[in-house]
Amino acid sequence: MTSRDPWWANAVCYQVYVRSFADSNGDGIGDLEGLRSRLGYLELLGVQALWLTPFYRSPMADHGYDVADPRDVDPVFGDLAAFDAVIADAHECGMKIIVDVVPNHSSDQHEWFQAALAAEPGSPERARYVFADGEGDEPPNNWPSIFGGPAWTQVPDGQWYLHLFAPEQPDLNWANPEISEDLAKTLRFWLDRGVDGFRIDVAHGMAKPDGLPSIPADELKQFSELLAAPEHDPRFDADGVHDIHRMIRSVVDEYPDKLALGEIWVRDADRFAMYLRPDELHQAFYFGLTEAVYDADEIREAITSGLQAAESVGSHSTWTLSNHDVVREVTRYGDGELGTRRARAMALVELALPGAVYIYNGEELGLPNVDLPDEVLQDPTWERSGHTERGRDGCRVPVPWEGNEPPFGFSTAEDTWLPMPPEWRELCVEKQLEDPGSMLSLYRSAIDLRQKNPAFTGNTVEWFAGPAGCFAFRRPGGLICALNTSGAPVPLPPGDLLLASGPLAEDGYLPTDTAAWLA
Ligand code: BGC
Repeated sequence: MTSRDPWWANAVCYQVYVRSFADSNGDGIGDLEGLRSRLGYLELLGVQALWLTPFYRSPMADHGYDVADPRDVDPVFGDLAAFDAVIADAHECGMKIIVDVVPNHSSDQHEWFQAALAAEPGSPERARYVFADGEGDEPPNNWPSIFGGPAWTQVPDGQWYLHLFAPEQPDLNWANPEISEDLAKTLRFWLDRGVDGFRIDVAHGMAKPDGLPSIPADELKQFSELLAAPEHDPRFDADGVHDIHRMIRSVVDEYPDKLALGEIWVRDADRFAMYLRPDELHQAFYFGLTEAVYDADEIREAITSGLQAAESVGSHSTWTLSNHDVVREVTRYGDGELGTRRARAMALVELALPGAVYIYNGEELGLPNVDLPDEVLQDPTWERSGHTERGRDGCRVPVPWEGNEPPFGFSTAEDTWLPMPPEWRELCVEKQLEDPGSMLSLYRSAIDLRQKNPAFTGNTVEWFAGPAGCFAFRRPGGLICALNTSGAPVPLPPGDLLLASGPLAEDGYLPTDTAAWLA
C-alpha cells in the first residue's frame, strides 16, 4: 500500500445482505436500523467498508433487485432518516459505505413501466424499455432468462418486453438518453447523502447488441447457468456497455474519492479488464476464487489471472469467496468439518492477496448453505425453473447473533423470512467471539495483521516452487502465504509463523487443508 492508493485499493469490505443481517422491528426481515445497531460488531471485525445490498422501494420479486424507486428507502428496511443514521454512524466508526445500484432493469411496478404498459407500441413510454414485436406467438428471439424460462413476456397488445431476469424486472433501454440521465440523478442523490461508492449490479449488462440476435440453437444449453455468461453470450458484455461506464465514472468523479465497483461476470480476462480502463470502473468483482474448485493449481491460476487483469489496466484487484448469489464456500468445499477447514485455509489465502477483499456476511462465522424445505423457497429461480433449480435462498439465511435457539438475536420474531437452523447455535457471533479457535477469531486476527503488519505491502506476488497440490507466494513486503490442498503434510517455507488456519503438524509441517502466513 502506498499513500497514493485510494481507500478501496486494499480494503477489507463487508457485504451486508440487509434482509438477513439484523432486524430491529420484529418483522423477521433485516433492516437499516438493525444494521446500525450492529455496527460495533463490524468495527470489531476490523473491516473498512460496507457494501449494502438494495434497500430501495421494491415489491421484492427479487428481494430488492427489482427497484420501483431508486431514490427512496423501502418501508421494510426503514426510511431515508434511517439510512442517514447508518451512514453517519458508520463514518464515525471509520467505515465507508458502498450502496448498490441496479441500472440494467427496473421493477415492473416502477412508474415508468406502468406508463409503458398503458401506452401504445412505438410511444416514448415504451421506448424506455426493450419492447419488440415477435412473430405471432413467438418472442422476438430465443434468449432464456437467467432465472429460467424465456427472457420475453408478451403484453395484451401483442408486443413483447425483454427481461434478462424475472418478468418483474423489465430491462431498461440504454439507447434512450433518459435512462442515463436518470441513473446520473440517482448517483448524485446518494453521493449527496454521503455514500462512498457504488456497486453496480449486472454491470456487464445494460447495452444490448444491434438486432438482438438469437443464440445459435446448438449452444442454447450452456446459457441456463445463473449469472456467469458463457463466451459470446449476446445478452451480456456488448461493446456499447463501456460508454455507459464512462458516463457513470464521470458522475462519480464529480465527488472526490468515491468508488465505482462493477459486478462483472465475464470470464475472458481481456474483456474483463476492459471494464477497468482508466475512464471506466475503478474496480470490478472478480469471481475467479468464487468459481475455482478447491485445488492448489486451479486457485493459483485464478489468482494469477485476477492480478494480471487488474495490472494490465493499472487497476487494483478484488477477491471474493462468496456472495448472496452463490453457494457458501464451506458447502462448496465439502461441508461439515472438511468444508470448514478448507474455508479457513481459503480465508487466509484471500486475505494475503494484494487488492480489496469482499467478505459476505456470515462468511466470517463459517456459515454453510442451508438445505431449506420447498415451501419456504423464495428465489424467483425456484418457480421459473419449474422447481428444478432451488435458487439462492440457501446462502441467504439470516445471521445468528446470540442465544441458544432461532432466531438467535437476529429478530424478536419467531418466524424469520427464511428459517434459521437450530444447529447454528454453535455458530453464533456471541459464542465465536469468546472462542480463540473459532472462524470469527481467525478472521479478526487475519484482518488485524493484514492492516497493521508491513509485510502485507506490494501489489505483486512471487510464486515458489512447491510439492504437488500446494502453493506458496511471497509479497514484496515479505509476507509468505502457503496452502496445502494435497493429501499429506508438507514442509513450510522458511520464515516466522504469523498465523495458521489450523494446528500445524508435529514437526512444524503444514497439514492438509491448511494455510499459513509467515514473514
Ligand atoms: C444480483 C442478483 C440479482 C441480479 C438481478 C445480480 O447480479 O447480485 O442478486 O438477482 O443481479 O438484479
